[in-house]
Amino acid sequence: MFYPDEIIQEVRAQNDIVDVVGSYVPLRMRGGRHWGLCPFHQENTPSFTVNNDTQFFHCFGCGAGGNVLTFVMRIEHMDFVDALKLLADRIHFILPQPGNSHAQQQKHRERSLTAEYNKQAARFFYDNLQADTPEAEAARKYLENRGVSPKMQALFGLGLAPPGWDGLLKHLTANNRDTTLIELHNAGLLARSHNNEKRFYDRFRGRLMFPIIAPDKRVVGFGGRIMDNESDEAKYLNSPETSLFSKSSQLYALNLARRARAKELVIVEGYMDVLALYNAGITNAVGVLGTALTTRHVQILRRAGCETALLLLDSDTAGTNAAQKSVPLLLEGGLRVKVLQVPDAKDPDEFLQKFGKERLGTLLRNAKGHTAFQLQLAQQPFDMEKTDDRIRYTQEAAALLAPLNSEIETDAYVQEIAHTTQIAPSAIFAEIKKQREKNQQNGDFSHVTPRRRVQRTNDPGLRDAKKALLCTVLSHPIAAAALQNFLLAEEMGDAVLSQLLAFAYDFATQNEHQESNKSPPAPPDIVSRFKTAEEQQQAFDVFSKPIAYSSVSEMEKSLNEMYQIIKRAHLDTQIETDGAKNDLNAVNIALNTKKTLQNQYISLANG
Ligand code: GTP
Ligand code: MN
Repeated sequence: MFYPDEIIQEVRAQNDIVDVVGSYVPLRMRGGRHWGLCPFHQENTPSFTVNNDTQFFHCFGCGAGGNVLTFVMRIEHMDFVDALKLLADRIHFILPQPGNSHAQQQKHRERSLTAEYNKQAARFFYDNLQADTPEAEAARKYLENRGVSPKMQALFGLGLAPPGWDGLLKHLTANNRDTTLIELHNAGLLARSHNNEKRFYDRFRGRLMFPIIAPDKRVVGFGGRIMDNESDEAKYLNSPETSLFSKSSQLYALNLARRARAKELVIVEGYMDVLALYNAGITNAVGVLGTALTTRHVQILRRAGCETALLLLDSDTAGTNAAQKSVPLLLEGGLRVKVLQVPDAKDPDEFLQKFGKERLGTLLRNAKGHTAFQLQLAQQPFDMEKTDDRIRYTQEAAALLAPLNSEIETDAYVQEIAHTTQIAPSAIFAEIKKQREKNQQNGDFSHVTPRRRVQRTNDPGLRDAKKALLCTVLSHPIAAAALQNFLLAEEMGDAVLSQLLAFAYDFATQNEHQESNKSPPAPPDIVSRFKTAEEQQQAFDVFSKPIAYSSVSEMEKSLNEMYQIIKRAHLDTQIETDGAKNDLNAVNIALNTKKTLQNQYISLANG
């Protein structure tokens, strides 16, 4: 969905940054700014500030900074659109609906109805679990027996579906006069009779209800568990696929895990495992919903800020198979992967019941990388007493080690394999090399560490000049108008900075044509033209040290100094790249421009 700048500005302006940040971080007023402990790095004395005048936050410790959208994106691990929605909701601002087509409108309507009914259902189930009835008491007893305290019940919003056929149906139809049963069916809450398609009934009956809440805080669906293990009904029943819910793109408790803001997320198989981990203080766990991990899941993990996935799976063969299939998906998604199967218990929940949280903590801290897990699995079918088996295992192991791009890591594993197989490390290394050559022929260079080009743009003097130049032209259209004839936006040599310069030029040009003197856009609005937190941070950096000029001539002098530095660096880079391409003609042009550079002067005098 593409939102016009005016809408974004409106939402940004109405969400005061001090209020929003203050709802996450305790702030104290000192010296005209609000101070607190930075939520983006560990610290004991506050170096995180929020400025009411500029509407920016900035941490002097880690450098994090940006506007209110940047803050929400970073703290909630949301993308731009979700952060915008959250802030719009906060001020009851209605964002325009995506698309105009009738079908899209319908789809949007169905999604918001589904969210609304699921939310109402979650409340209904929750109230029903806390009610003063024998069923509710039995259910709460069941939970207590499994170690789920009332506090956890509330945190996870657990509920109870009444045993009858129409408890929820009656509640929702009474609550929403215009609701049709079809809509409730589309929301996944009612089932439809096979014999009589006019007949609808509660899909979830007599089950403990686990609401599945997306990171944007919408209730998208449910998992429901029977409490009588002797029953021949399925132990768990999930919401069906609806306009909001799909088990291949949902992770249980991601809404809570995101709050832990951990770079490592623990992935478990069951609802109860997530609860048990949470109860043991491990708040960065998510559950897959009775399905295999998908690439969608991996994307979602990454969007949640996850860098390492720790697969903590059931200790049965299904768990092993799941791990084996998930590892490559996670690696392809650019995540680091660790794998752990709990010993002597069928799942993490049972492990915690039996051995307690200290033991689990130790296991988690010592969880091995995926390579160790894969090597261990590869070895299983082989008998190390047999020469043939030892050879075949070594070959498989070499194939597993070939993609590693750390020699130290490779060496460590080779030592282990040499030990188990009694094959000389040099022979194993030779086999790995052979595998790598084979992989390279197939276009896989993953073990080759990319060589970083040392870039001139890392030069702090140059970086400061670029920031100061942008800061100047973004707040002074006359400077932008004059600079336009000397420096191209691309010559900033960086995507975000180039866009900022282009934006300053656009604004100056528009202003000239309209002959109005509109004031330049506010810095926080310029920041929200960028749609990722990293880009916003970069744009914020430009404004982090505002410059005040006492006169136009002072600004002119400073503009020329910055221009000279930036243009020269650009020409040097140009000469280097053209030289590398052997384009002597281009090199000569750049050299000549460089010679005339010192004679150039940008004047801010009228005309
Ligand atoms: P408890 O028996 O309550 O400890 O459940 P668990 O969370 O440990 O579940 P289990 O290990 O049996 O299964 C793991 C996950 O698979 C569950 O959390 C469900 O998401 C899913 N699952 C298990 N049984 C069923 C079932 O009968 N139907 C469906 N649709 N999913 C199931
Ligand atoms: Mn279990």
